[in-house]
Amino acid sequence: MRQIWITKAGPPEVLKVKDAPDPEPEAGEVRIRVEASGVNFADILGRMGLYPDLPPLPVVPGYEVSGRVDAVGAGVANEWVGRDVLAVTRFGGYADTVCVPLNQIFVRPPGMSALEAAAIPVNYFTAWQLVVVMGGLKRNETVLIHSAGGGVGIAATQIAKHIGARVIGTASAVKHAELRAVGVDHLIDYRTEDFEARTREITHGRGVELILDAVGGESWKKGYRVLAPTGRLGMFGISAAVSGKERNILGMLALLAKTPWLQFNPLALMNANKGVFGVNLGHMWGEIDRQRQWADRLLELWAQGVVKPKIARSFRFDEAPQAHHFIQDRRNIGKVLLVP
Ligand SMILES: NC(=O)c1ccc[n+]([C@@H]2O[C@H](COP(=O)([O-])OP(=O)(O)OC[C@H]3O[C@@H](n4cnc5c(N)ncnc54)[C@H](OP(=O)(O)O)[C@@H]3O)[C@@H](O)[C@H]2O)c1
Repeated sequence: MRQIWITKAGPPEVLKVKDAPDPEPEAGEVRIRVEASGVNFADILGRMGLYPDLPPLPVVPGYEVSGRVDAVGAGVANEWVGRDVLAVTRFGGYADTVCVPLNQIFVRPPGMSALEAAAIPVNYFTAWQLVVVMGGLKRNETVLIHSAGGGVGIAATQIAKHIGARVIGTASAVKHAELRAVGVDHLIDYRTEDFEARTREITHGRGVELILDAVGGESWKKGYRVLAPTGRLGMFGISAAVSGKERNILGMLALLAKTPWLQFNPLALMNANKGVFGVNLGHMWGEIDRQRQWADRLLELWAQGVVKPKIARSFRFDEAPQAHHFIQDRRNIGKVLLVP
């Protein structure tokens, strides 16, 4: 098999394709011949040496794949062989062959392409947990979605519009026209406009009921201020830690200095009628059965045309460095994939 390794912490060029013997599925596992692997921002943080959950380098990153089962381990029914599936992987997804436990795979519905399938797990599970499970977004509420053009941002927009909420999105200006077509009602170019002031303007001073913020630092402070009474701030990433393409300790420290460690204290939350919560899908492995229920609902919504993964671009395995550059240059509108 072929795998893409993060050989050491550094710029995208540290990603290298290497050959390895095909893995054999263990008891309770299936083996998947991969047709597409999802690229996530966490892989970029991992490559830069900024992701504490990643096993020690060198490592094969990757949280999700789609493909066809070609072998099963002891205790798994033979009928699985030949089925098209999508799967979550606990690292190791940047490979043309993976073995995963049966409870981490989902049958790919007929008509869903391999590219669409690989774009679903991380982005849509995260968006579902943020918008529905913890954010409790309701009809006629307003949600502010940061990085609205990213994989999670587009997934969250589709779910929020289905609920009947109004969406304000922040994104680089070149993405605005396409994001309007996805359903974002108001767009803010956060690189030239102050999102706090613009959000107040758009909501006539009221603020928003839900914010999805994976930028972190100062952005969480501003977001908390712009929550309407009963508003919830969902924090799920620290993109602001990424300033160049290699680890920048000073940038990281600056982010930590701007993080609102003290603002969200119990009395402040109570008196302001505001809520804050965090999401880390990578720490939800113990809740895989609940995620399976989310997946059932998301696949139903796919069949109804509500969930429509938007593929920004797919890259061949040997182009993995370009895939990371593409995201870090903020060029993606939607999901970036690797195809063996
Ligand atoms: N906690 C979780 O479970 C979880 C799960 C999935 C993702 N996340 C987090 O959610 C965020 C978005 O992930 P994603 O996979 O949807 O993103 P993505 O598809 O990789 O999109 C990346 C986009 O983020 C925006 N961005 C904001 N700050 C950036 C920076 N400093 N460097 C580069 N791009 C930056 C850029 O768009 P604009 O310039 O247009 O804004 C860029 O195009 C990341 O922080 C990721 O770590 C968290």
